[in-house]
Amino acid sequence: MVKVLILYYSRTGNVEALARAVAEGVESVEGASAELKRVDFATVYDLISCDAVVFGSPNYFGYMAGLLKDFFDRAWSIRDVVAGKPAAAFTCGGSSSSSALLSIEGIFPAFRFQKVCDGVVWGLRDRGRPSEQGKDLSALKSVGRILAETALKRKMEVPQN
Ligand SMILES: Cc1cc2nc3c(=O)[nH]c(=O)nc-3n(C[C@H](O)[C@H](O)[C@H](O)COP(=O)(O)O)c2cc1C
Repeated sequence: MVKVLILYYSRTGNVEALARAVAEGVESVEGASAELKRVDFATVYDLISCDAVVFGSPNYFGYMAGLLKDFFDRAWSIRDVVAGKPAAAFTCGGSSSSSALLSIEGIFPAFRFQKVCDGVVWGLRDRGRPSEQGKDLSALKSVGRILAETALKRKMEVPQN
């Protein structure tokens, strides 16, 4: 069994709706479970104990939410413990700008996360609210599925201690 941590921040529900779609993708893979955690309720031990991680954030002023940045700052001391974990990211903004996504993915090398797929940017002006009936959330489900499959493969290959 592998656990995929979905670490996100959301105030008005858009990123949370995307996070739930990622979780659906994870759970569609046999042997994988999703753990959804809002970043202000997470500790660095959540990052240590997962097999793969996906970060979700609103676009705030062209950057990730401050609380997610604070999490990365706190996790810096355990960067060697989490090196190599499969990772991905998604963001939501009024616009479809990828600036917030790039701010998250730009941190991956410092933690030596293995970026397993392209991130997803959800622009509200172009696509409406993700929680609306009939929205196509397949790109988010794919992110979850790819992370789960990569984590399972890695578990077979890398001896765990
Ligand atoms: C303080 C603040 C700053 C924001 N800055 C941007 C921005 O620079 N670019 C953008 O596209 N959207 C911006 N937005 C819009 C949010 O990214 C958008 O409403 C997002 O869906 C919020 O996510 P949530 O519903 O999960 O809380 C901003 C919103 C807030 C509250």
